[in-house]
Amino acid sequence: MKNILVTCAFPYSNGLLHLGHLLEHIQADIWVRFNRMIGNKVYFLCSDDSHGTAIILESKKLGISPEDIISNMYLKHKNQFEKFNIFHDFYFNTNNRINYFYSLLLLNNFNFKKLLNKKVINQFFDKKKNIFLPDRLLRGICPRCYKKDQYGDFCENCNSIYNSYELINPISYLSNTVPVLRKSEHLFVNINIFKKKIYKWICVSFLQDEVRNQLIKFLDYKFDFWNISRDYPYFGFKISNKYIENKYFYVWWDALLGYISTFKYFCNKNGFIFFNDFWKENSNFEIYHFIGKDILYFHGILWPIMLDILKFRKPSGLIVHGHVLLNKMKMSKSLGNFVSVDKWLKYFDSDSLRYYFSTKLSYKINDINLCLNDFIKTINSDFINKFINIASRIYFFINKYFNNFLSKKMWNINFYNFFISKSDLISNYFLNFDYYKVIFEINIFFDILNKCINEEKPWNMNLNFERNKLHCFCTTILNIFRVISIYLLPIVPNICNKIEKFLNCKLIWKNLNIPILNHRILNYSILYKKLDKSFIYNF
Ligand code: 2FM
Ligand code: ZN
Repeated sequence: MKNILVTCAFPYSNGLLHLGHLLEHIQADIWVRFNRMIGNKVYFLCSDDSHGTAIILESKKLGISPEDIISNMYLKHKNQFEKFNIFHDFYFNTNNRINYFYSLLLLNNFNFKKLLNKKVINQFFDKKKNIFLPDRLLRGICPRCYKKDQYGDFCENCNSIYNSYELINPISYLSNTVPVLRKSEHLFVNINIFKKKIYKWICVSFLQDEVRNQLIKFLDYKFDFWNISRDYPYFGFKISNKYIENKYFYVWWDALLGYISTFKYFCNKNGFIFFNDFWKENSNFEIYHFIGKDILYFHGILWPIMLDILKFRKPSGLIVHGHVLLNKMKMSKSLGNFVSVDKWLKYFDSDSLRYYFSTKLSYKINDINLCLNDFIKTINSDFINKFINIASRIYFFINKYFNNFLSKKMWNINFYNFFISKSDLISNYFLNFDYYKVIFEINIFFDILNKCINEEKPWNMNLNFERNKLHCFCTTILNIFRVISIYLLPIVPNICNKIEKFLNCKLIWKNLNIPILNHRILNYSILYKKLDKSFIYNF
C-alpha cells in the first residue's frame, strides 16, 4: 500500500471556478479515486490562493474587505467542487498563521545562507489604476518569438520565461492603457546556486518527457535572482522590516508554501502524526502536484528550491495538463467565452463533463478541446446508447420473468472472464493518467457486449425451452455491466452510485471476479437521461 499526497493548483480567491479548474480537479480526482479503489491511501488536499494584486482590486471594486472576499469565495469554491463530486480531504486558504510562519522561516533560511539581495528595479506601473502591475496582468508581444498577447513573465506560444520589461508593446490588462516604468526597491533571492540540485531532481522525478525537457530549458535560461517582494497596494503577508520596508511577499512565495501549511492544518485537525514523515528528506511517502502547463516554472524550478532550503523533501512528481479550449478557442474573459462552473451546471451535469474530459485526457500536455457538438454526440451515442441502455434492456427480462432475481449460474463464464482479464490493462491506463485509453477500451467492451446481445437475441428466446438460458444470459450480461461499471466508477461516480443501487451491490475492484449470482437486484429507474442538443444553441 502506498501513502500519497495529491494536490491541485490552488484557485485564486478572487474569482469563481471555471472549466479549466475542473479539468485539473477531475484529472486528479479520477486518479485519487482509482488509487483508493486498489487500496492505496491517498490524501487529496487543496486550498484557495488568497493573496495578490487581483484580490485587493476586487476588494476595492466591491467595497468588501479582502478577508470577507476570501471567506465568501472559500464557501463557493468548496460548493462548486462538491457539485462535481470532488471532495478534498481538506480545503483551506493560504491567508493563515502557519503559512505566514513558513513564509518567514523560508526567508530567514535564505538570509542565513546569505542568499538575499536588495535592488532597485524598474517595474510596470498602471497610472490609471495607480498600481504596480503583476506579470500576469500585463500583456504584450513575446520578446523571443514575437507572438502577440503574451503574459509579462511567460509566453504560452514558445514557453519562454523573461522579465516583464522585455515584453514588447506592453499593455495593462486592468485598464487597457500603456503602463509606465517606475523605480522601486525589491528583495531578491539568489537561486542560481541551486541549478545542479534542481537538474538532479528533474532527472529523477516523475515527469512527463515534455515537462522534463521544458524544465531543462528553464534551467538553461539565465535565472540568477527571483524577486519575492511586492509593493502596496497588495493583499498578502508583510515582509519583516528588517529585510525591506513596506513590502509584501509575492503571492507565489506563500502560495507554494501553502502545500505545506494546508497539509499541516489537515494533520492537526485529524490528529495525524505523519506530517514529518511526508515532508522529511528521503521520505517514503509520495507527493504529486497536478498543475496547468502555464505554472510549470513555479512548480518545477522555484518550488523544489524552496523545499531544498527548508530541508524538506521534493515532490515525487508533477502531472501537467494543457488548457481547456471551447470549440477550439482559448477561453478568456475578454472573448466572453469563459465557462463558469455554474453556467455548465445550468445546462449539463457533472458526470457528462467528467466522461468527456476523460475521452481526451492523456499523459500528454496537449490542450483539451471541448467541442459541444462532439460532447453531446459522445454522451448520447457512446455512453448512453451503448452502455446505459444495456441495463434497461436486460432488466426488462430479469424483472418480467425472474422477479428481479439473478440466476445461480453464468451463461458463459469465459465471456465474463474476458472482461475481467482486462483489469490490469485498465489499471495501468488509470495509473499512467491515460484516461482516454480507459474510455477507448471500454468502448470496445460496449461494442462486444451489444454485439453479443444482438446475436443471442434474448427477446427471441423461447420461454418454455430456453428459460434457463435466458436467465443465465441476462445474469451474465448484467454481471459484465457491473464489471464495466467498476472500471467507470472513478470517472462517473454519480451514475455509478445509481448503478450500485440498481444492482444492489457495491462496485468494488477486488470483487471484479466475484460475480453476483442468485442475487436480488432492485427496480430499474432511469440511470441517465440523454442530453438535449438544443442546449448548445443557448450555451
Ligand atoms: O495559477 C494559479 O491559479 C495559482 N493560484 C496557482 C497556485 S498553486 C500553488 F502554488 F498554490
Ligand atoms: Zn514566445
